[in-house]
Amino acid sequence: MVLRNDHYLANQERRESNARSYPRRIPIAIKEANGIFVKDVEGKVYYDCLSGAGTLALGHNHPVVIEAIRQVLDSRLPLHTLDLTTPVKDEFIEELFASLPKSFASRAKVQFCSPSGADAVEAAIKLVKTATGRRTLFSFHGAFHGMTHGALSLTGNLAPKQPIANLMPDVHFLPYPYAYRCPFNLGGTLGEQTGIHYIKRVLNDPESGIAPPAGMIMEIVQGEGGVIPAPDNWVQSVRSITREHKVPLIVDEVQTGFGRTGKLFAFEHAGIIPDVLVLSKSIGGSLPLAVVVYDQSLDQWSPGAHTGTFRGNQMAMAAGIATIRFIRDNRLEVNAAQMGERLMSRLKSIQNESTCIGDVRGRGLLIGVEIVNTQREPDSLGSYPAYPELARQIQRESFNRGLILELGGRHGSVVRFLPPLIITGEQVEHISAVFAEAVQAAEKKMAD
Ligand SMILES: Cc1ncc(COP(=O)(O)O)c(C=O)c1O
Repeated sequence: MVLRNDHYLANQERRESNARSYPRRIPIAIKEANGIFVKDVEGKVYYDCLSGAGTLALGHNHPVVIEAIRQVLDSRLPLHTLDLTTPVKDEFIEELFASLPKSFASRAKVQFCSPSGADAVEAAIKLVKTATGRRTLFSFHGAFHGMTHGALSLTGNLAPKQPIANLMPDVHFLPYPYAYRCPFNLGGTLGEQTGIHYIKRVLNDPESGIAPPAGMIMEIVQGEGGVIPAPDNWVQSVRSITREHKVPLIVDEVQTGFGRTGKLFAFEHAGIIPDVLVLSKSIGGSLPLAVVVYDQSLDQWSPGAHTGTFRGNQMAMAAGIATIRFIRDNRLEVNAAQMGERLMSRLKSIQNESTCIGDVRGRGLLIGVEIVNTQREPDSLGSYPAYPELARQIQRESFNRGLILELGGRHGSVVRFLPPLIITGEQVEHISAVFAEAVQAAEKKMAD
């Protein structure tokens, strides 16, 4: 008997917590998946441009990943090892370090964390606090660093924060260069430079009210915050300020890491080297894995300073080795850059033919389309207010046409594209055509 999506969704609603999120917008039970495609229990096939929130660099069930997992299962390797070492772990570290810029890798230490990006962020916070003896942290408006207490404290989005009393104190949020909605209402280079000036002033002013920070955490392209790429020269300025003030710079590449933005690591666009690098998602090749890689000078915590039972998942490390190797051997970051450019140019054409797309932006295969309400007054820079209801309708129309997209950004009004890095030109064309139809249909529905 073939059970329908509704059956599984009803069970899910009845038994799973109210905190469940994706099934509310992607109401299917998945039965099979391959590459960019997923098939639900009713046999309908979707293009998956969510990719496990950016996890599935090689798409679903890539043969090299499946083979790597199979080899571990056949090898009698222990599946669980705490943080004890094994030949697979050793090889994983080799592969990871070989993919980092040499000047970083040659001085790097790695900490295996509990397998989530959020736990790696927790480890990074503890690392820099321990190393500097300071207590303050800097983050950015629009940042997303995870949902655990400490990581949530560093996250901009107020919705999940407001019900939680006593988040980590002494976190200060700085303006991020969000060109479409410039925090200083200046826009362009002047807006970016003003942000840099403000950061310098906060660090130099003995009466800023903010103690020198233990660290600054940033995404080079804000993902959940609405796909906002920071300009390279802005990133370079942040790096020189933090270096000058001896503030460890934590770059969170949980979402951007391993090719998504068109370079193996997003920080490479600006040619900077972080002090601390947070990685998860794609490094486990679809299985849970998270690490912090950092400069050896920060390695001042004591044995057991950041433990966790599940830090030795051998299958995830083997899947991670296979994924990293496949990305590097096939230069998938180059494919991400080329396919990302092609998708952005199609989305910009759609923008020209519609009235509701305020901005199309991104880097590589991390792309956002900001949906706005042009019936309302624009601000003095010409940007219109967010239109979350229409963004939601576009997501729904895309889904009905077999295209899975997610929303993010302020008020959930940015449609996000995170396809796997193996996407082909033909698939880009198909996705763009479906999205164009979805935008038209949604605009019409909202107008009716
Ligand atoms: C930049 C960034 N940091 C941290 C996290 C948290 O990762 P996890 O959901 O695995 O805890 C995410 C998740 O989307 C992320 O995008």
